[in-house]
Amino acid sequence: MSAKPAARTEPLRIGIIGAGTMGRKHAGILGRNGSATLVAVADPATTALAEEYGVPCFAEHQTLLSSEKLDAVIIANPNGSHVATALDCLSAGVPALLEKPIAISYSEAAKLVKAADSATTPILMGHHRRHHPAVEAAHGLIARGELGDIVAVSGTWLTKKPDSYFDQAWRRMPGAGVMLINLVHDLDLFRHLCGEIISVQAKTSSAARKLAVEDTASVIVEFESGALGSFIISDSAVAPWGWDQVTEDDPAFPFNPSLSCYRIAGTRAALEFPQLAKYYYQGISDWNHPLCMSYQATGMGDSYSRQLEHFIEVVRGSSPPAVSVMDGAQSLAVVEAVREAALTGRTVQVSDITG
Ligand SMILES: NC(=O)c1ccc[n+]([C@@H]2O[C@H](COP(=O)([O-])OP(=O)(O)OC[C@H]3O[C@@H](n4cnc5c(N)ncnc54)[C@H](O)[C@@H]3O)[C@@H](O)[C@H]2O)c1
Repeated sequence: MSAKPAARTEPLRIGIIGAGTMGRKHAGILGRNGSATLVAVADPATTALAEEYGVPCFAEHQTLLSSEKLDAVIIANPNGSHVATALDCLSAGVPALLEKPIAISYSEAAKLVKAADSATTPILMGHHRRHHPAVEAAHGLIARGELGDIVAVSGTWLTKKPDSYFDQAWRRMPGAGVMLINLVHDLDLFRHLCGEIISVQAKTSSAARKLAVEDTASVIVEFESGALGSFIISDSAVAPWGWDQVTEDDPAFPFNPSLSCYRIAGTRAALEFPQLAKYYYQGISDWNHPLCMSYQATGMGDSYSRQLEHFIEVVRGSSPPAVSVMDGAQSLAVVEAVREAALTGRTVQVSDITG
């Protein structure tokens, strides 16, 4: 049963759908935010999180939506359940923060985009990294033209997940894999910072873990502007280069402040992320002259807490979602194009996926 938006002074009543790793993380973030409170959980397999927080637990999200007085929900169930769950939230008039990826196929995502388009209930896509202070600062710097026209972008996400991560069956099956679980974050940020991606080439490999899903991918992207980018990703390589190790965004991952995960180079300057070290020439601009370097100041905070603060504004009606389902679908379309490119060995236009 949906409720009218709560008065400004009352904490929002939030339910969590899917009480695994991410549901638990969201519960912790809610617990540290005075403007929202966890009131119920839905999960078919575990009551542990609900018991820990002393709130009711339902086996099915439909029961949660119909029997609890909710201002909003956070959907953190496996990728393949996202669209059906979000559609039920729209029908119930309950705003949702929907974990990424929006869906496991673009055609499925398109159904949600269509439904969200004609609904007044908002959905915020959980591309949390967009709320990181360094992303906001980089976005502003690029939008102001400080790098000139973007020429080339390079990104890395190389790390070794524990083997036990794959004990959960859905993480070994089509609909998961390093591209839908991790690469979608990075390509979403490439789009956010550097503009739309129009075509891709790629290779994928499952040689390291030998699962039904890929563990490694190498991707070339072409941006609408004509800029080119490359990305290398693996969940099976012992290496320190990736968002999680270099941003200090999540204390679960040991932090290395001296390494970066993205390099963005333009006609006037280059940017190393997340340090936001900007390299540029003073005077003559060519490789025979020394580069200067300066740092861009950023705000404070982690992206998950800032995402929740934004979601609260969305639920209260004071802001539209910063990341819409349309945006989530477009980032998924790029991943789907990558998959197609790896399967066929051909260049794939993202518009071939989106139609
Ligand atoms: N934004 C991020 O940084 C981030 C990080 C990790 C995972 N994720 C996303 O969060 C989602 C959950 O991932 P996870 O690692 O927490 O998975 P998980 O396997 O740890 O937890 C999923 C939970 O959902 C429950 N579940 C299964 N079907 C359900 C249903 N129909 N309704 C309600 N609950 C159901 C399972 O019992 C399990 O407890 C995935 O979509 C994943 O891609 C996002």
